[in-house]
Amino acid sequence: MAEEVSLGEVQETLLIPLYGRARDARSSHSILRDDMAVQLVKDIDYDFTKFTGPSLGGAVLRASIIDGYIRDFLRQHPDGTVVDLGCGLSTRFDRLDNGRLRWFDLDVDDTMALRGRFFEDTNRYTMIADSVFSSTWHDRVRERSGPVFLVSEAVLLYFPEAQVHGALSELAQAFPSTPIAFDTGGALMMNSQDRNPVFRQVPARMQWICDDPAELEQLGLEFLDSRTFATPQPAVARTWPRRHRYGMRALRWFPPVRTYKLNLFRTVAA
Ligand SMILES: C[S@@+](CC[C@H](N)C(=O)[O-])C[C@H]1O[C@@H](n2cnc3c(N)ncnc32)[C@H](O)[C@@H]1O
Repeated sequence: MAEEVSLGEVQETLLIPLYGRARDARSSHSILRDDMAVQLVKDIDYDFTKFTGPSLGGAVLRASIIDGYIRDFLRQHPDGTVVDLGCGLSTRFDRLDNGRLRWFDLDVDDTMALRGRFFEDTNRYTMIADSVFSSTWHDRVRERSGPVFLVSEAVLLYFPEAQVHGALSELAQAFPSTPIAFDTGGALMMNSQDRNPVFRQVPARMQWICDDPAELEQLGLEFLDSRTFATPQPAVARTWPRRHRYGMRALRWFPPVRTYKLNLFRTVAA
């Protein structure tokens, strides 16, 4: 029997990228080949078909760009630790597992209750029910010595600027000299949300407007890299079908493409 979902407003948005990855897996030129997402969509009692429009494909491109950042980290630190803050029903651990890394997936209670119905902890994979805005989980990650990579994908955008800035400053202090990847949306993208078909289907709205990610350096972050769907890392672009590679490049001046950014920072040293 399909699993019913009861999720808070922001939490419900995890079903959008999940459906995007499931649709990608069914396409002949799949980028992520996320067969688990196909199964999850079958197993969850929810009308996914109401989600339409470019955000579905965008969630796949976004995940592949962020995967690219984490793959680079793991090439240098194959025994490193990755912490996905606001993981939803992401299957990134399965995509990137090299048999050696340590992985923490963190999300709030109701999302983790749903996730726990489909995923299990192992000796290298741990799920934590907590908030990106709390510090109670920090010690569980810090107990493990060695390099850490923090990632938060399509999560911070949903919260007010002051709360996001507070969390980033706190993460910078708690995890010095640590790479952290997250996405930012400029005003042109954020102000067009109501025209986005997926946002007509959910009550949640993104709140944090960030036009220039470099300005976040004031929070104790060093700005290392930033990509848009029109400028993915070359190694990532090679995994995209031509229609995305050239199509996104052609759309590079389109405000939602130009102002939605996938960024890599490093927290400053202690
Ligand atoms: C759009 S979904 C993104 C999910 C996942 N990162 C992905 O890309 O598939 C937003 C996620 O933020 C999570 N979230 C909401 N509030 C949170 C909080 N305070 N701390 C951590 N995650 C939170 C939701 O549960 C949901 O999984």
